[in-house]
Amino acid sequence: MIGSVNVEDDPADGWFPESVAADYDDPRGANAPEVVTPAVDVLEELADGPVLEFAVGTGRIAAPLAARGVPVSGIELSRAMAARIAGKPGGDAVDVVLGDMTTTRVGGRFSLVYLVYNTISNVTTQDGQVDVFRNAAAHLRPGGLFLVEVGLPDLRRLPPGQDTVPFAMEAGAAGGYVGFDQYDVVTQQFTSNHVTVSPDGTGSFRRLPFRYAWPAEMDLMARIAGMRLKHRWADWDRSELTADSTKHVSVWEKTRA
Ligand SMILES: C[S@@+](CC[C@H](N)C(=O)[O-])C[C@H]1O[C@@H](n2cnc3c(N)ncnc32)[C@H](O)[C@@H]1O
Repeated sequence: MIGSVNVEDDPADGWFPESVAADYDDPRGANAPEVVTPAVDVLEELADGPVLEFAVGTGRIAAPLAARGVPVSGIELSRAMAARIAGKPGGDAVDVVLGDMTTTRVGGRFSLVYLVYNTISNVTTQDGQVDVFRNAAAHLRPGGLFLVEVGLPDLRRLPPGQDTVPFAMEAGAAGGYVGFDQYDVVTQQFTSNHVTVSPDGTGSFRRLPFRYAWPAEMDLMARIAGMRLKHRWADWDRSELTADSTKHVSVWEKTRA
């Protein structure tokens, strides 16, 4: 993060330390029922036994899924994020292991491993993303499913010579906010940038690194890991992916041990 350093933040928690975790469960946005419920509906339907969430965070999805009676485990890098799971309805039932989803193994064989809310992109190398697919497959029983929800990079909004796409611009008496992504189309690295200005004119600049991979590259990662594409949707409503889609929800099936 560029800007203020919070003394309570543990560097081991990566990009999601205490100061970020404290605001993560804001009931609007990604935590709103109209966002959470369609995802939980699909995951419940795909589950045929225990499931595992990679990068389970504060249990935004895992806790309500566990509350429906699905046995849910999770892997999470940030202690500050994971500490919030147990306090939610269903959260007590989520079995959480602290670790890196590229390497960490948890006991058991799962019917479904899932990785939502763009978090595959938090792994910023191709090798690391392949390791995520391999690790998912290693946790699946034959025929088990790996689901990824991730935004599609906004490359179609980049004219030649430009590398930046704004996605938010809010200004008012209470201050302002500007959000923009900056792409390197050669390396497939990008950053999401958040500039927040307070009413007194002071502000902060938060810059998070990501790597994008086109769906076809993910299909190859899945093949390397012994899986093949079963479903590809534009969203949790299972609508068709089109040239105008802004994200995809893809599901691969484990086809070999
Ligand atoms: C955008 S949040 C998503 C959390 C949760 N899946 C959700 O849908 O709300 C990203 C989470 O991924 C975790 N994370 C990032 N890289 C990770 C890694 N390599 N292994 C495990 N967790 C990771 C972060 O600590 C953070 O909690």
